[in-house]
Amino acid sequence: PEVVSQRRLPSRQRFFGDLSQCLFDFVIQLLPTESEVQVKEDVRRLLERLIRTIEPSSRLLSFGSTANGFSLRNSDMDLCCLIDSDERLSASDLVTMLGDLLERETKFHVKPLPHARIPIVKLSLDPSPGLPLGIACDIGFENRLALENTRLLMCYAMIDPTRVRTLVLFLKVWSKRRKINSPYKGTLSSYGYVLLVIYFLVHVKNPPVLPNLQQMPPLRPISKEDTHVAGYNTWFFDDVELLRTRWHSENNDSVAELLVDFFRYFARDFSYNTGVASIRAGFLKKASKGWQNDLSSRFHDSRERNRLCIEDPFELDFNVGRCVSKDGIYTIRGEFMRASRILANRPERAVIALAELCA
Ligand code: GTP
Ligand code: MG
Repeated sequence: PEVVSQRRLPSRQRFFGDLSQCLFDFVIQLLPTESEVQVKEDVRRLLERLIRTIEPSSRLLSFGSTANGFSLRNSDMDLCCLIDSDERLSASDLVTMLGDLLERETKFHVKPLPHARIPIVKLSLDPSPGLPLGIACDIGFENRLALENTRLLMCYAMIDPTRVRTLVLFLKVWSKRRKINSPYKGTLSSYGYVLLVIYFLVHVKNPPVLPNLQQMPPLRPISKEDTHVAGYNTWFFDDVELLRTRWHSENNDSVAELLVDFFRYFARDFSYNTGVASIRAGFLKKASKGWQNDLSSRFHDSRERNRLCIEDPFELDFNVGRCVSKDGIYTIRGEFMRASRILANRPERAVIALAELCA
């Protein structure tokens, strides 16, 4: 009976139904296994114990995908060391000392980068039977804004876990397979793609799929000390349990419909030349932020930096897409067009469309 009723649906609806199901199935098999999650937590604890031999009051916290619900199998670990004491070593001294210690005490390959713009220790572990793909991990210091933006993304994921997580995880896989997920090579970070998805669900879709957590009225008055981290306002409505009882999206689009619209919007409608995608404030003009990529500008650097403009949710003067080069934006946009074209044809079998998308 299932099959018969499916056949009676108009082809458009049937395609979206099939594609949504394929997207869930596809994403589920790419989630980290329970044992991977456990191993990573064990590694975090081990590293925390070691760091405390240098700085007894330190805590080592996860951020990025391992902490925000957008983790894929074998994604790297982003760790942040917080030190609850006023007399602490500088980040670069800590990086050097921690690098030496980890080299002596663990099996990790260790690469301390004490003089980087943000000093970090890079660690990796070779593959082993329990960890067939090894582990890659970065430890940074006092990056409280990253902890906050991780929490913001996690709250967005929790409001509508099925649609938000499926879309984000699919786009992460797709952008990695299509090789447009490398800030070092002029394309966009995972963090940038996640912000684009949330921007689309909050500000482009009408009715919206997600509320704007940064613009909701707070439940009680809040003071500046409570909201500011490193000089930036990081307040957002984070009582997701309450939100689930009070806020309800009028938008009932399936995951597949949202994905098709997402690709079409970024292939065709988003104004790359003049616009800034902001999850906090919606579509902004580059001019209003001083982010023009004016070709007559004398500052070669600043113009290279602002081809694709995505405002960080808290560091408003920071363009998360700053690494995207001229070639990079051409390639990324070309990929949005390609994906849009594949899906617009509504191939007979959704699973084939998906394979072709990520081929
Ligand atoms: P995968 O590692 O690909 O699984 O993705 P991820 O979700 O961990 O994202 P990514 O590694 O790109 O970034 C990890 C975290 O670092 C993000 O959640 C942010 O907290 C922080 N981060 C990354 N890039 C930036 C950036 O350009 N600006 C700021 N402020 N934070 C960033
Ligand atoms: Mg990461």
